[in-house]
Amino acid sequence: MRSRILLVAGARPNYMKIAPIYWAIRENPSLPFTVDLVHTGQHYDEAMSGNFFRDLDLPEPSINLGVGSGSHALQTAKVMVAFEGVLLEKRPDIVVVVGDVNSTAACALVTSKMRLDGDARLGRPVLAHVEAGLRSRDRSMPEEVNRVVTDAVSDLLFTTCRDADENLLAEGIAREQIHFVGNPMIDSLRRCLAAAEQSGFLDRLGLDGSPFGLCTLHRPSNVDVPEVLEGLLETLAEIAVDMPLLLPLHPRTRRRIEQFGLEERIADVRRPMGRRPPRGVLGLEPLSYLEMLQALRAAQFVLTDSGGVQEETTALGVPCVTLRANTERPVTILQGTNVLAGLGRREILDGLQAARRKVAQGACIPALWDGRAGERIVAALAQPVGGQ
Ligand code: UD1
Repeated sequence: MRSRILLVAGARPNYMKIAPIYWAIRENPSLPFTVDLVHTGQHYDEAMSGNFFRDLDLPEPSINLGVGSGSHALQTAKVMVAFEGVLLEKRPDIVVVVGDVNSTAACALVTSKMRLDGDARLGRPVLAHVEAGLRSRDRSMPEEVNRVVTDAVSDLLFTTCRDADENLLAEGIAREQIHFVGNPMIDSLRRCLAAAEQSGFLDRLGLDGSPFGLCTLHRPSNVDVPEVLEGLLETLAEIAVDMPLLLPLHPRTRRRIEQFGLEERIADVRRPMGRRPPRGVLGLEPLSYLEMLQALRAAQFVLTDSGGVQEETTALGVPCVTLRANTERPVTILQGTNVLAGLGRREILDGLQAARRKVAQGACIPALWDGRAGERIVAALAQPVGGQ
């Protein structure tokens, strides 16, 4: 008897985390699983969604809840209502949620309260959280609330690093529920690097073989306040005097730049640039996964407020400066190439030097970031289900 798994994704950083689980099941047909990919539709633009499924060789999700954008309450509520219908229709044995976006917490909450058939004997689906236990200890971040809530109601907690295990144990989660499996995002990275090199992205920008930096900014705390965003763009311009700085723009960030009248601070590559090779801070459309990987691997340094990029740069040995006051991924600082710099000009410039020194002195890749996390997750999922 095959067990039905729902693999849930909602927003851009989720796709790289579900893909290795999907691949591990697809490539081992003897496993007793049937999988449905569920997309909540939290992200919906082609550049924020469809492109990633193609780059990751994932099929179209069989279910798309189409929830779209909205306030936290509205978005979370729409996912919950729609996902309850999916659970009732599909009657899964296992639900897998990943990461820390609103869709993650919404689907976890619904699953944890589901009683299929209203029959207590049937119980509810096993709920698994991938990338459990990360903590920034900053409850002003919506993602931190999502992490805490999701972990509290999950049955199986798959962690990417040992400090996450410790965080969960300290919150009273039983040791048997915690599985240290490594980092599925790094599975995706390793699998897709060769294809990324063929993407032709840097060549199209006139940057193949020339030095450049890369920056990503999308946290509300960095882009929603005019003075903060303006200050960051000024520092980026200063850094970009030495070499061009690619700035792929999340829709939120582009909208804010326009709203705050900061367009002149970046060279928008949608407009004719008038000269080659490009210089300055280059505002780009959101990159596809393969384009991003090619840029990450070749960049001299990366500045970011993203969580996943901190991990990807550590895996690739590229200096990374995190433009935030805290991180839920301290392993990238303790072992990897990451430096936490905050938002001030001096802190960022010093952080850049420190990150470069770290790489020169030899950072290392955290345990089990080896490309096999997906296999370990699937092996663990086969255990409780097989035993039921
Ligand atoms: C979400 C996640 C964040 C993650 C980020 C990655 C939450 C609370 N936040 O933030 O953890 O790091 O995704 O990108 O879940 N928009 C579009 N097209 C889209 C999607 C969004 O234009 O396909 C615009 C909309 O104007 C929307 C805004 O971006 O209002 C924000 O989208 P939303 O999903 O609410 O949050 P993100 O900032 O993307």
